[in-house]
Amino acid sequence: MVTIRDVAKHAGVSVATVSRVLNSTGYVREDTREKVMQAITLLNYSPNEVARSLYKRESRLIGLLLPDITNPFFPQLARGIEDEVHSQGFRLLFGNSDEDLKKEAAYLHTFTQNHVVGMITARTISDDETYKRLGFPVVFLDRTSPQYPSVYADGREGGRIAAQEIIKRGSKQITLLKGPPNVKPAQERFQGALETLSGANVDFQVMNTTSFSFHEAKKWAKELFEKHANTDGVIASNDIVAAAILREALQLGKSIPDELQIVGFDDIPQSELLFPALSTIRQPAYEMGKEAAKLLLKYIKKEIVQNKHIELPVTFIERNTTRKVD
Ligand code: RIB
Repeated sequence: MVTIRDVAKHAGVSVATVSRVLNSTGYVREDTREKVMQAITLLNYSPNEVARSLYKRESRLIGLLLPDITNPFFPQLARGIEDEVHSQGFRLLFGNSDEDLKKEAAYLHTFTQNHVVGMITARTISDDETYKRLGFPVVFLDRTSPQYPSVYADGREGGRIAAQEIIKRGSKQITLLKGPPNVKPAQERFQGALETLSGANVDFQVMNTTSFSFHEAKKWAKELFEKHANTDGVIASNDIVAAAILREALQLGKSIPDELQIVGFDDIPQSELLFPALSTIRQPAYEMGKEAAKLLLKYIKKEIVQNKHIELPVTFIERNTTRKVD
């Protein structure tokens, strides 16, 4: 394996000079830089990142911890993060927490062992202490904490909009799904919808759910129509659950949106492909990821941070599970 010493010898310079060229640090004469770059190319030298991170006790690695990569919402976050950190010369080390506290803590240990220079997390851990003990900057994304730099969407306004739009389109017997109790954004959107429904001239009922998984979404859908067969409007906790409710309603022979309207939450890419296509509240997931990466990079580069809590707006995406308004 070609080492930094081989490059220095071939270029006729010191190892320290090659290191300055590789890390763009300190002064190097242009002709010397040229000689080093030619040696690197000729010898096909590739810096050993593990050795580098051990020597400098830091890497170009950024940790990313998400709850469930099988949920299409999270890969959109990850894509926004990766595009931004990659453009700045950093690489991601990814972990899936499965909303399991032990697994989340294990990944924090892994990130520490690999000398990440920072991390982004849609966390499960309820106590902030665990994150306080880390030796690198952390940005919370989507599932946030007021104690930490955070990027999130305006879930409460999203809940309000979902309720307003379904009421505006004539639903009178509305079922509002309450998402998993441990998921802060789910509770925010629920409270927003509840606030609007409570002040409107409609009947509504709340149905509690405890997960966003594909598997359990089918269970929630069956339970909804068993408990509330006469509902004419559903405000779902996210698009996966909304899709399961749409499927169950069609299997029951319901006419969508004439007999039953459905509004989802997230606007994952698949929602547009459903038939009828799902009306939903769009969280700007890609932009949320990008903003979280920009915020983290400011902390890594020790730049001044004007605003450490960034809230992005949500929008109603009207498709075909809601009636058109005149
Ligand atoms: O669909 C997954 C849900 O969990 C999203 O609504 C997002 O807010 C995440 O927290």
